[in-house]
Amino acid sequence: MTSMTVGNTTTPRPADGTATGAAVEIDDVAVRFHTRKKDVTALTDVSLRIEPGEFVSIVGASGCGKSTLLKLVSGLLRPSSGRVRLHGEDVRGPRRDIGYVFQRAALLDWRSARRNILLQAEMRRMPKGEARARADELIAMTGLSGFDDAYPNELSGGMQQRVALCRALLHRPPVLLMDEPFGALDALTREQMNVELRRIWRETGTTVLLVTHSIAEAVYLANRVVVMTPRPGTVAELIDVDLPTERDYGRTMAEPSFARATGRIRELLGAATTSE
Ligand SMILES: Nc1ncnc2c1ncn2[C@@H]1O[C@H](COP(=O)(O)OP(=O)(O)OP(=O)(O)O)[C@@H](O)[C@H]1O
Ligand SMILES: [Mg+2]
Repeated sequence: MTSMTVGNTTTPRPADGTATGAAVEIDDVAVRFHTRKKDVTALTDVSLRIEPGEFVSIVGASGCGKSTLLKLVSGLLRPSSGRVRLHGEDVRGPRRDIGYVFQRAALLDWRSARRNILLQAEMRRMPKGEARARADELIAMTGLSGFDDAYPNELSGGMQQRVALCRALLHRPPVLLMDEPFGALDALTREQMNVELRRIWRETGTTVLLVTHSIAEAVYLANRVVVMTPRPGTVAELIDVDLPTERDYGRTMAEPSFARATGRIRELLGAATTSE
């Protein structure tokens, strides 16, 4: 198979910034929080345009506003200034056409894996037959077959995150937001989840925004990495990941372009030069 480079070079990007089918558009956004004790500027001058089907990772120091950025896209939070659009539409409130995966799977202990996944359908009043069929498809896709009747306390951390991923994908959201989804997993399980997530992303064609503290994970998964400055967070640099679409985990780690991208990110974050 020939290798294909993804990123700025192959993604059409109009210069005038008009809505032309971008999945996510963030224009000059700032977020200020006013609490009793103090005011915090979480984000400032953030502009970002993400095309449908892109996989974009977001990295930055703790407190730089990564989760805040995802909340803006989901409509859980309104910007203090600037504009956020999803598929050309202004985000004015919580959006139903997204999927969200958090660091903790947040499953209901008293429901089986399958019934946790179907919770999404109940909340959205999806037709039962359609929801069950989609759940079966996702259970197979994420390797949960045989565990769908298990309860969360009978599942490993990795399996619980797979259930959370199935739940987030049940309604076929065009945009999937992931906030440190693998942060609580051991290193080996995390690698396996990375490989699976990349496969699932390719199978579903969903636009993904992934927040992570792992530079290796950010680069392995994405076609672009957004590197943020410390608070108040803004985009320090957009890194195009020059890696083939087919990404064998071990081989990817050994690619010079992988080392270049991770090295640049580490430089920007001012992190130590040891690899993660
Ligand atoms: N609801 C809120 N009220 C007040 N301040 C908030 C609120 N949410 C976030 N903040 C502040 O905004 C800043 C950015 O927070 P955010 O959670 O987006 O950071 P983050 O990059 O996700 O950090 P981490 O990597 O630790 O998860 C922080 O200083 C945080 O304290
Ligand atoms: Mg966060």
